[in-house]
Amino acid sequence: TVPAPFTVPLTVPQTLRPVRRTATTDYYSVMMHRRRLEILPGTRTEVYTYNGDLPGPTIRARSGRRVVVRQRNRLDMPTAVHLHGGATTPDDDGSGGVTIAPGGERVYTYPNHQPHATLWMHDHAHHMEAEHLYRGLSSLYLLTDATEEALPLPRGRFDVPLVLRDAHFDAEAQLVWTMDDVENRNTILVNGRPTPRFEVQARRYRLRLVNSSNMRIFLLRLADSGIFNVIGSDGGLLEAPVDTPYLLLSPGERLEVVVDFARYAPGSSVVLENLMGPGPTDQVGQVMRFDVVPATARDRSAVPARLRTLPTLPTPTVRRQVELRMDEPGTGHRAYIDGKVFDPDRIDTTIAWGTTEEWTVTNANTTIPHNFHMHLVQFRVLDRGPNPADPTESGLKDTVTIFPGQSVRLQATFNTWRGVYPYHCHMVDHSGMGMMAQFRVV
Ligand code: C2O
Ligand code: CU
Repeated sequence: TVPAPFTVPLTVPQTLRPVRRTATTDYYSVMMHRRRLEILPGTRTEVYTYNGDLPGPTIRARSGRRVVVRQRNRLDMPTAVHLHGGATTPDDDGSGGVTIAPGGERVYTYPNHQPHATLWMHDHAHHMEAEHLYRGLSSLYLLTDATEEALPLPRGRFDVPLVLRDAHFDAEAQLVWTMDDVENRNTILVNGRPTPRFEVQARRYRLRLVNSSNMRIFLLRLADSGIFNVIGSDGGLLEAPVDTPYLLLSPGERLEVVVDFARYAPGSSVVLENLMGPGPTDQVGQVMRFDVVPATARDRSAVPARLRTLPTLPTPTVRRQVELRMDEPGTGHRAYIDGKVFDPDRIDTTIAWGTTEEWTVTNANTTIPHNFHMHLVQFRVLDRGPNPADPTESGLKDTVTIFPGQSVRLQATFNTWRGVYPYHCHMVDHSGMGMMAQFRVV
């Protein structure tokens, strides 16, 4: 039932319209419900949706303007909505065990006291987030500001989100959900379409790559090894663009690139490949194809040599070690932070408000990759043990890949909200097995 690659056209999620706007605030209304959607051509797959789409509709927000989202749960299980990368109050973070009962609703407020960034909304209902994300509760939240708008980057229909994930379909085209079923999730979806094709004009595009997979890490390359001009990551634009033919994107991470398709002859195509397993290369090795057509107008976009100025790095006054570990596959499948399985009633780390902390996060497994995500803050990646961080990690980050045996040193300043927030591996089947802990800012 999985179609031949590049037969299905890419679609771009719709922009959600506010139900009401005031001088300070945009109000939205979203309904979570089951829907049978055509993902594989000619069949329908039951998914969980925000407003009936996979991914759900995109919210476009602006720094300094509040967004209020009324979320109605018409699923038959509790849900909770988390704005990944957002600095939200603990009550609106979707994480603290506060869920929306079936048939119920909850209003989430997003203050947007933070710079532009490609943010991501997804389910975070305790113990169910992995299944709910897998079944479709995922949508984009694009936050812009004056700094970003002043730049001549490609915009409008030349600024395209590409939400990547994998899925395991059975013979009836239904999603198969089994925890940690990484070997079988071998159908790649982009914006909910299987290995699609996308017609691009021979000009510059801004592509916002989001990895919404539960577990899959992508290592992306254009088939001709053409350069990506990396302009942004989790927390918005980098200070300066970085050229690279490879992009590493673990679950929850975002990378923004500019590709100038004018370097390809109209009529030609270039495939976006994935060089990392698991799964057979003929299935997981191709993500999508760009089909180049002539540009209809002159391309006035550009990538400036300087994109933004990041806040200076204060000297950390507290240093901590954090260890991620899980049982090797087939031995019971529990996962730990600092030797402990997640307990929502336990505070693992207490942080004094205003402190800058340096965390060294170690993947203690020797065969299993993990990554590391913190709520509330955007952090900076200082280095990877003895090795420098990758230049694409030089901006603001909220999620970082940690390969087997590696340590990553990062730092963050806790000067926004007080309260309890989680930190976890964002390979969400692992966080669901316990690889999650909580800090409290006091
Ligand atoms: Cu994207 Cu705790 O989550
Ligand atoms: Cu993990």
